[in-house]
Amino acid sequence: MSLFATKSLERIKAESEGGEHHLKKTLGPVNLIALGIGAIIGAGLFSLTGIAAADYAGPAVVLSFVVAAIGCAFAGMCYSEFSTMIPIAGSAYTYAYATMGELLAWIIGWDLVLEYAVGAATVSVSWSSYVQKLLHMYGVTLPVSLTHCPWDTTPGLINLPAVLVVLAISCLLIIGISESARVNAVIVVLKVTVVIVVICVGFGFINKANYTPFIPDNTGTFGEFGYSGIMRAAAVIFFAYIGFDAVSTAAQEARRPQRDMPIGIIGSLCVCTVLYILFAHVLTGMVPYRTFHGDASPVATVIALFPSAALQTTIVIGIICGYTSVILVMLLGQSRVFYSMSRDGLLPAVFSDIHARFQTPYRCNLIFMIFVSLFSGFLPISKLGEMTSIGTLLAFVIVCIGIIIMRKTNPNAPRPYRTPLVPLVPILGVLVCFAMMASLDLLTWIRLVVWLAIGLTIYFLYSRHHSHLHIDTEKGVKKR
Ligand code: ALA
Repeated sequence: MSLFATKSLERIKAESEGGEHHLKKTLGPVNLIALGIGAIIGAGLFSLTGIAAADYAGPAVVLSFVVAAIGCAFAGMCYSEFSTMIPIAGSAYTYAYATMGELLAWIIGWDLVLEYAVGAATVSVSWSSYVQKLLHMYGVTLPVSLTHCPWDTTPGLINLPAVLVVLAISCLLIIGISESARVNAVIVVLKVTVVIVVICVGFGFINKANYTPFIPDNTGTFGEFGYSGIMRAAAVIFFAYIGFDAVSTAAQEARRPQRDMPIGIIGSLCVCTVLYILFAHVLTGMVPYRTFHGDASPVATVIALFPSAALQTTIVIGIICGYTSVILVMLLGQSRVFYSMSRDGLLPAVFSDIHARFQTPYRCNLIFMIFVSLFSGFLPISKLGEMTSIGTLLAFVIVCIGIIIMRKTNPNAPRPYRTPLVPLVPILGVLVCFAMMASLDLLTWIRLVVWLAIGLTIYFLYSRHHSHLHIDTEKGVKKR
């Protein structure tokens, strides 16, 4: 069978409707927007905004947020079209299976581990550092050996708080999606409130002099500025937008996917873009941008200017709670992608076993709980973050290309949401996302290639021989 055999839309839909491996349809439009915002606002905004401003873009980091948002908007429209055509758990993986064939579907499914599992690990490490900040406010300092991984600048044994948060959230997911979505909704309100409070209160502390120069020249002792710096910063803070596409992984659990998926995806992206630009503008206006050099918690730095200690503590607690929902949605997305791959036979059945009472793919959640905890406990945030960004950008590029292919191969399939101006919008999506990928360093690229090589080995040794599509095609050939 050809490596490029595709799965027909009819087959994808029929498979999702039968069988004992069934997911509950419980999510409405508000849940979906909340799921999106829950996945989006997190370590990217609260940790990387300052670093990107200090090292790459200065106050012009707001332009980097615009560039990254443009790339995400193009990709978001493509995701919306796919998610309404194919409202099946699995997101970009399922879309690739329908358009570009099994091999590419496998590659993207494997690549999505970087976005979801490694992304969850990245945020958990940042979560751990904010928890330490909070404890510090109360005079408690945890031992370095239990709060730092062996590769940190200050090396420790294990980042234990990061591991613990992954364990806790995995348990929540095993109990069930509707419960998890409810917890998520509460956290989203809290998190958006924190962002708005920092913007509003921080506005009063802006010193206009901090905006000059707006686009710094390449004259400093560290970093890369000017227009190329803005692009580099866009690739760094791109991490802050990751997550809106996670909405599409829950398509199978949406009550009315045709109407609600575009609302969930584009809606959450728009809300976050506006908040991010304002937030970055306030942050870079409150202190000189160089203050943020090497500072993973710029919010803690600027809110130190606020007179109320209670407000400062509340903001840090809000950020900590906000991270929880990001990790939740990432782990949810991860289990859904592997669930879909397992149902197609590309991965062992253990990844799609549904719990009799909770109706969740609990074994998949358990396996990723272990995998993600290892990353959280033993790897530094910078490496995890870069891998997440490059993996996600690759997925975005493939999804944009997939839309163009799908318009040719299935021109008449019902499209409740149509991406406007095809092929222009997907092509622009590819260009903007690839430009961000190209801004990341060579080592990150090498790690991506190694990860994909491991995936291809598994595909040719296991998945290809167990693929249901492959097996069914062979049976069909024999009958004839
Ligand atoms: N967008 C998510 C964050 O910023 C991944 O944490």
